[in-house]
Amino acid sequence: MQDLPVRLNTIFEEVRNARAELGPGRVLDVGADHGLLSLRCLEEDIATSVICTDINPKPASKSRLLLESNGFKDRSETLVTDGLNGVNIRSGDIIVIAGMGGLNIIDILARAIKDLDKDILSNIALILQPQKSMHLVRRFLAEQGFIFEIETVCKDRDIFYNVLRLRYRGYIQELDLRQLYYGPCILERRGSDALTDEYIEHLTQVFKIRSRGSSEIRKMLEGDLHAD
Ligand SMILES: C[S@@+](CC[C@H](N)C(=O)[O-])C[C@H]1O[C@@H](n2cnc3c(N)ncnc32)[C@H](O)[C@@H]1O
Repeated sequence: MQDLPVRLNTIFEEVRNARAELGPGRVLDVGADHGLLSLRCLEEDIATSVICTDINPKPASKSRLLLESNGFKDRSETLVTDGLNGVNIRSGDIIVIAGMGGLNIIDILARAIKDLDKDILSNIALILQPQKSMHLVRRFLAEQGFIFEIETVCKDRDIFYNVLRLRYRGYIQELDLRQLYYGPCILERRGSDALTDEYIEHLTQVFKIRSRGSSEIRKMLEGDLHAD
């Protein structure tokens, strides 16, 4: 079994945690590209089957080739599609969207869950690793009734990544500006592990720079925690 890079391994561990809660089911790997995450999920029986989607044909054929050459032709499907278009989401599904911008993730999820039955919604999990616009992703998810179960931070080749695991609970979690920008789970873990503290410090430095061009970030840093 090939070692996964730290970022993908952190995502995989959250898929494993979500699976332990949900029971058997599929993994929907959106923007799967290389397909390494889906392969590991099949190898470790974290997924009964996987659907890899990619908006571009080249990466889609990469993941198809990888899964088929590793003996998983019968348990995998690869689609060239935008997000989850054409995929019927079912109970037990774990939706993974990693390595994409936050606005793209919001767009994909908004379309996918718009008309989804609440019983199904309550029996799926989301594992997300946005590359940017984290506060917009958190705001969207909280407004849609998702609860942040965990946000894990990892550092891969000197870059921080955070991985969110969420379940739908159907009520709106009110997040103040600090929670939106830093993450509610990240703030709760402050002082309990060195990497989280290093990440919070890193974010604070980034926000100090970005506050010059954003009144919302300025407000947040000054301790006024309510969005306009
Ligand atoms: C940077 S790669 C990330 C690959 C993998 N998920 C990971 O985390 O390593 C992003 C992939 O998402 C695909 N992608 C971007 N927008 C998409 C969309 N709306 N629907 C499906 N795939 C998309 C790109 O073609 C690309 O293969």
